[in-house]
Amino acid sequence: MKTVNLTINQLLDQIAQFTDPETEGVTRLLYDEHWIEAQKFLLELGQMIGLDSGFDQVGNVILTKFGTANDESAITIGSHIDSVVNAGKYDGIYGVATAIIAIKELLAEYGAPKKTIQILSFCEEEGSRFPFTFTGSKNLINQLPDDIYQLVDKTGESFEEAQAKAIYALKNIFPLVSALPPTAYAEIHIEQGPVLERLNKEIGIVTAIVAQKRFTVTINGKNNHAGTTPMWLRVDPLKQAVKLIHQLEVIALKIGEPFVFTVGEMAISPNASNVIPEQAKFSIDIRHTDEKELLFFEELIYKLAKTQMQELAGLEIKIDKWTDVGTEEMNETYIEALQAICKEKQLSFHLMPSGAGHDTQIVNRIAPTALLFVPSVDGISHSPQEFTTTENLEKGKTVFKQFIYDLAY
Ligand code: GLV
Ligand code: MN
Ligand code: MN
Repeated sequence: MKTVNLTINQLLDQIAQFTDPETEGVTRLLYDEHWIEAQKFLLELGQMIGLDSGFDQVGNVILTKFGTANDESAITIGSHIDSVVNAGKYDGIYGVATAIIAIKELLAEYGAPKKTIQILSFCEEEGSRFPFTFTGSKNLINQLPDDIYQLVDKTGESFEEAQAKAIYALKNIFPLVSALPPTAYAEIHIEQGPVLERLNKEIGIVTAIVAQKRFTVTINGKNNHAGTTPMWLRVDPLKQAVKLIHQLEVIALKIGEPFVFTVGEMAISPNASNVIPEQAKFSIDIRHTDEKELLFFEELIYKLAKTQMQELAGLEIKIDKWTDVGTEEMNETYIEALQAICKEKQLSFHLMPSGAGHDTQIVNRIAPTALLFVPSVDGISHSPQEFTTTENLEKGKTVFKQFIYDLAY
């Protein structure tokens, strides 16, 4: 076994190099060339620190240290390798880097664990290339639907083609394996919001992750000349999109906290200043701890769209729902254990819900889970400005490492 001296920051800086150089910050989308290089790097790193390194059929990297108890399941830890477009260098990958460093240190300090530990670098969580989320964790729990293979990205490449190329690139060097069933799952992540910093707390212990739904709305109208088509004869999909979004925003504000409604992506075609568009396509992302509120809002989207179609002949609105996950509560025993560790290490902590989605909420369907946060400076995330201090990254590792030790040794 070679000696690898790495701090979390050094590892994060190295992995941040695997990015689309044309974009600001980090852009590493599922199965793209930078994603392949990043997963290869982790597989090699796993080998260097004495872990069995392989990947599964969807490209999740699995780094395993078999326990002395010869169990056929594993304490599972990790997070995701993919990013949003123009991301920072912490979202997801902080959890993978911390898991690797914590295990490397535990092995050096205490030798092999009693229980098998596997680190997962999940292939995808964000939904930023194909309209599908949590591919990696859904595969781990055998809940990946078959119909994702026909999905296409913005360039027209299918999920199936992109996956085949990526798996081929990894297969030349590393073994294709299956993850062991998780007996427990733990993840550490940056908070991605302002609460810990505002409260001056060092560690966030997550109690529950909010439910979320995501949709793509496609509005088709009549493409025509901007100068010759009178206003009363237009079927303008962009203006209809604006109307729909505005009506939804008004209701969203009435629902109030903790409901959030986001339109983060929009495409207009043909996208020219003197042309009434043919099509406007946009995303909707809604989240709330109360699933009933989300269902109410979902029904509202369908109802308002139907009314707009009835009011304007020639207008077509299609709504495709591609994410629908419920609220998930983290394991209470683990929440208590994490509080005890924070007290023992004299670190301040705060119990909180997570408004961001995490692989934890998927694995929570089949195994007890724990999710820890470290503070995000100015609460910024999904941005190149995402930042967490070295001190806080290390404090998070201290708690995470102790938690894994308590579970596995
Ligand atoms: C993932 O980062 C999400 O919550 O959108
Ligand atoms: Mn994210
Ligand atoms: Mn994340």
